[in-house]
Amino acid sequence: MEHMLPNLPYVFDALEPFIDARTMEIHHGKHHQAYVANLNAALKDQPSLSAMSVDKLLRNLNEVPESIRTAVRNHGGGHLNHSFFWPTLKKDVAAKGPAIDAIVKKFGSFEAFREQFSTTAVKLFGSGWAWLVVDNGELALVAAPNQDNPIMTGKIPVLGIDVWEHAYYLLYQNRRPDYVSAFFNVINWEKINEHYLAAVS
Ligand SMILES: [Fe+2]
Repeated sequence: MEHMLPNLPYVFDALEPFIDARTMEIHHGKHHQAYVANLNAALKDQPSLSAMSVDKLLRNLNEVPESIRTAVRNHGGGHLNHSFFWPTLKKDVAAKGPAIDAIVKKFGSFEAFREQFSTTAVKLFGSGWAWLVVDNGELALVAAPNQDNPIMTGKIPVLGIDVWEHAYYLLYQNRRPDYVSAFFNVINWEKINEHYLAAVS
């Protein structure tokens, strides 16, 4: 089974002015596409592993031969993370619902959550993702390097922000804090509620 690049669930300029169309086009069509192609290349001589979902591959990296384990981790992680990411982005979605209720309960207020999530994203050194996860039934923040996904350590992702420079450099250059701030205008809380409910059910 070849892994496939999923379609973006909206047009490239759907997130303007917070995330620009050119960034979306390159991020999806070049970067995500490359993760898919490199994952398929790593698995080309591994029919049993090729039949596994990327989610399952990453949960069972120890079963992947050492010679391709890093490639599967990085490119499989890149494919999984970006496939998760695209549908979680949408403008003008009200921050309400069960995930927001749980966030307020855990962090004290939505603003306190926003501040802690943003700090996690801004302070992450190099390339990686900041995640809101469910860990043993509780919300938690995680900073993960490279393309590591929280499922690799038994946590369930609810919301994630890509802080690789390819996600923001064209519009924001080195101003990662501005990108992180803008990100809060394009969170699809309806999708985050779905992820949260699935994670705690
Ligand atoms: Fe990315």
